[in-house]
Amino acid sequence: MIIAIDGPAASGKGTLARKLAAHFGLPHLDTGLLYRATAYALLDLGARLDDEDQAVAAARGLALADFDEEKLRGADMGEAASVVAAQPAVRAALLDVQRSFAKRPAGAVLDGRDIGTVICPDADVKIFVTANSETRANRRAIELARRGEDVDYASVLADIRKRDERDSHRSTAPLTIAPDAVVLDTSELGIEAAFAAALKIAQSQKTKSSTPC
Ligand code: DC
Repeated sequence: MIIAIDGPAASGKGTLARKLAAHFGLPHLDTGLLYRATAYALLDLGARLDDEDQAVAAARGLALADFDEEKLRGADMGEAASVVAAQPAVRAALLDVQRSFAKRPAGAVLDGRDIGTVICPDADVKIFVTANSETRANRRAIELARRGEDVDYASVLADIRKRDERDSHRSTAPLTIAPDAVVLDTSELGIEAAFAAALKIAQSQKTKSSTPC
């Protein structure tokens, strides 16, 4: 079974993807980490984020097992990843690794922005997780403060809105709701209520015929 979870930053999609993966005993790939790691590699080299050749080389050189999530989860890396992700050649370079992950024998859970639309258009389950921008900014500010980052709610909200705008309006694989996805708005839901709703959606959708992506 392939479960595709898409949605904007801090919508709760990562938490729900992890919980669904644990529930069904499936491997999980947070595809945002691929773009974050590509951006990190570019900055580490002193390269520009819009240097397409270097960005493609960095994307091709990624090793999933070596990701240092602690370094990749910072606020700056989210914005840098969004810039890198707007380049069609970078997206193309990261296509195979995502599709190979989804083709694992038992299936997989992938979360990102274009899983249900581009990476796995034939996923058995598609959920588009969203929440209003103020709620998302609040959650992200709490998460960043826990990481020890110096946060200011207004700038987190501005960052989220800027990323939403860029991720939704880029030319290739923009953030959009797949026609066959179920929308789950988590604005008023705590983690357990959101998970119960996501599980219900997954259980009702998984009976659809399965075609690997
Ligand atoms: O989910 P995240 O916040 O870790 O993602 C960081 C950025 O990566 C996001 O702003 C856009 C990009 N991204 C993408 O374009 N496609 C994906 N499947 C996942 C992330």
